Amino acid sequence: MAVITAKKEISSKSFSRWFLGHLLANPLNLVLIFVGTSVSILIRMLIPVFLGQALDQAIIDQQNLRTNNEQLVILRDFVFLIFFLGILRFIVGIVTSIANEWLSWTSQKRIREEFFNSIQNKPLKFHDSVRTGELMALATNDLSQVGGLISPGFSMMADVFISITIAAFLVLTLLNAPQLLIMSIPFFIVYLWTIFSYNKKMAPISHTFMRKWSAIATAVQDNITGAEVVRAFAEESYERKKFMEYVLDFRDTWYKRQILQARYFPTLILFATTGTAVLVGSVLILRGELTIGTLIGFTGILFTLIGPTYIISFAVMLYNGGLAGARRIYTMEMKEIGEDVSENNSSSIGNIQGKIVFKNVSFQYPASKGPILDNISFSVAPGQMIAIVGPTGSGKSSLTKLLLRLYDYSGEILIDDVNIQKFPLESLRKSIGLIEQDIYLFPRSIRKNIAFGARDADEAKIIQAAKLAQAHEFITEFPKGYDSYVGEGGSQLSGGQRQRVALARTFLTDPRILILDDSTSSVDSKTEEEIVKAINAVSQGRTTFIITHRLSQIRRADCVIVIKGNKIVAKGHHSKLISQSADYRRIFGKYAVLPPLENRETVENGGGT
Ligand SMILES: Nc1ncnc2c1ncn2[C@@H]1O[C@H](COP(=O)(O)OP(=O)(O)OP(=O)(O)O)[C@@H](O)[C@H]1O
Ligand SMILES: [Mg+2]
Repeated sequence: MAVITAKKEISSKSFSRWFLGHLLANPLNLVLIFVGTSVSILIRMLIPVFLGQALDQAIIDQQNLRTNNEQLVILRDFVFLIFFLGILRFIVGIVTSIANEWLSWTSQKRIREEFFNSIQNKPLKFHDSVRTGELMALATNDLSQVGGLISPGFSMMADVFISITIAAFLVLTLLNAPQLLIMSIPFFIVYLWTIFSYNKKMAPISHTFMRKWSAIATAVQDNITGAEVVRAFAEESYERKKFMEYVLDFRDTWYKRQILQARYFPTLILFATTGTAVLVGSVLILRGELTIGTLIGFTGILFTLIGPTYIISFAVMLYNGGLAGARRIYTMEMKEIGEDVSENNSSSIGNIQGKIVFKNVSFQYPASKGPILDNISFSVAPGQMIAIVGPTGSGKSSLTKLLLRLYDYSGEILIDDVNIQKFPLESLRKSIGLIEQDIYLFPRSIRKNIAFGARDADEAKIIQAAKLAQAHEFITEFPKGYDSYVGEGGSQLSGGQRQRVALARTFLTDPRILILDDSTSSVDSKTEEEIVKAINAVSQGRTTFIITHRLSQIRRADCVIVIKGNKIVAKGHHSKLISQSADYRRIFGKYAVLPPLENRETVENGGGT
């Protein structure tokens, strides 16, 4: 499994820039959240301060022997003030919450969109090395963790730090009690240290947490994709056991995270600060250096810190989870970027003729040990049909993938004498129709699959394409016809049906160059006939590469290329090769079993050379 080791692959600086870029994309929103949170905290702290001042006032009034009526008026004003502050805080709270959620959702949306686009633009070698389950976990779980970090994670964390700043400000100004502030400083150093060290311990656990979640997603993906194989081999119980191992592994990390969270308790420090403040404050009151109201205000402020402190451990968890998720997403986005590196993006492929030249092309997959193709050269005139034959694993499919620039290679590939590196990728790929060996259909209707590359094609065109691809007949036999659902990857269709739907799909996009990686050789003679008809119709007037075991197709080809041991060992027309190439005769002999061949004798006699 591709495990993302974030720290090794990306620099913290570039990650921070990326992440801040997403956050700061809504600066007004951030300001609103900051101001809203600060106002909420200020009101929360003003209430005990005013309470203390009211108490002091009451004491002074008693000493000054004010009338009950006068005292009641002061009390009424105080109640009104508290009431007004309460309402104000309620409104500010709602606005801040909305701003928070808005920021979270817009950031998530933007990152999700960016992630999706980045995955769409990755070269195939990226998909060769990465697990689908992992990508799915990133796009869902990791991303929602990022959302949690932004809201409520950030505001919860910010709450503590803004609270401390405002508290210090109020103690110095409204309460005018610098002694109490100085007394609290050591406690707050320990308080902050606790939070930071907890945060430091939480970071690696959060990363492991996300990784283990991905492992579960990947295991689920394996089982769903391989459902048929698992059942066919009756391996359900083994697969279940393996899956449970991932789940339990995840649970262990979850426990670790919860235990760590439970162990950190900065609230204790807050209680210790309050206790000490009461003690020191009482002495100062007795000495006449502090009023009772000030002490009440101060302890009240400390009490308002209890709430945010209680949730700080949760906030730190959210913060780290989100950061780990963001880092994993960014790391994935940074892998294998920049597929479209056309030397000159402006030159459009336009109306091409379809001449193709391979010049000393060599290629190997990132994962393979040696070359898959070694110094391949050949040329094809516009409209010709080239059959590629060779033993299994000789690189036939790989060769055609290079034409679409699905992988990097050395040497040159030219279309109409222009290096394909100069064409914009999209335009290059749109002019080549690829029917892969393993045909993939989207789990949608047949109609949508046929119209995949030409979404605006009308019904008549879709039916015409299906007819040419010999697909119309079997499609209309389905109860839902063109609306029939094809299943995951096209699993509800037979191989031959899938192939014909793919032919229709390619036909509709009308590419100048066609690549047909045809693996269905063992079909009944009626289907064989239909497929050949379909292929002939689709390849009409296009430069066509056909990788096939079908003798009738090979014979029709203008040129046959024989690949063996990474090299072209023979090329030319079938009639020439059959007499001149021992390699060709060997391969040909193998395929000649079905259907019977007129040259069988020659092949068998010459096969051993
Ligand atoms: N995505 C990949 N990553 C790494 N190696 C690959 C990849 N695809 C194919 N290979 C390897 O490259 C070699 C050539 O594969 P390719 O699919 O081109 O063969 P082929 O000639 O089309 O075979 P077949 O007739 O069985 O379809 C094989 O040895 C295969 O193992
Ligand atoms: Mg192949």
